[in-house]
Amino acid sequence: MTLKELALKRESCRSYKESVVSHKELKEIMETACLSPSACNSQPWRLIAAEGEKAKEVSAMIQKSGRNQFVEEASAFIAICETPAVLRAGVCFDQQHFAQMDVGMVTMLLTLAAADKGLSTCILGCFDEEGVKSALKIPAEIPLRLIVAVGHAKEPGVREKIRKPAAETICFNEWT
Ligand SMILES: Cc1cc2nc3c(=O)[nH]c(=O)nc-3n(C[C@H](O)[C@H](O)[C@H](O)COP(=O)(O)O)c2cc1C
Repeated sequence: MTLKELALKRESCRSYKESVVSHKELKEIMETACLSPSACNSQPWRLIAAEGEKAKEVSAMIQKSGRNQFVEEASAFIAICETPAVLRAGVCFDQQHFAQMDVGMVTMLLTLAAADKGLSTCILGCFDEEGVKSALKIPAEIPLRLIVAVGHAKEPGVREKIRKPAAETICFNEWT
């Protein structure tokens, strides 16, 4: 599979069948995700997989937000926490909050690694943060940025991607 084929295969799955994603698969996709780049190689993330009974607890806390009820069917969840980034001192590093970008990239690679294994995922930004943090014993001062639901899709096949026309999102040589 080419990278483009993998990017087309990865999609947000909101309907899962009753089928367990193994501990080994979860570990492998998390390890691949951690190959992601980060500012000053700071790797400001901690990924926590919730499986079995713990996944049910996390699912309940996600649904408590009043959204994302479909997660009931997911086999596992991977919580992506942002940890303090140690960056080399430098003017340009003060301008932006790189850690949050790094967290986005590790999440992206996680979903691609899952798709590469035939697993389906959905990135979740909406959940009861306090509830999930309590279930996973995440320290209060550590931000829980995203959760990725993982499972096996109920429906085979992939949807057509809906994206802005390329002219709106990419250009060459100058902003047009
Ligand atoms: C930061 C972020 C937060 C998201 N939060 C949710 C969410 O809470 N619930 C949900 O169903 N999808 C969520 N999504 C999935 C997006 O809706 C989805 O990626 C987008 O519509 C493109 O569709 P695709 O992933 O199938 O290509 C989130 C995606 C990102 C990147």
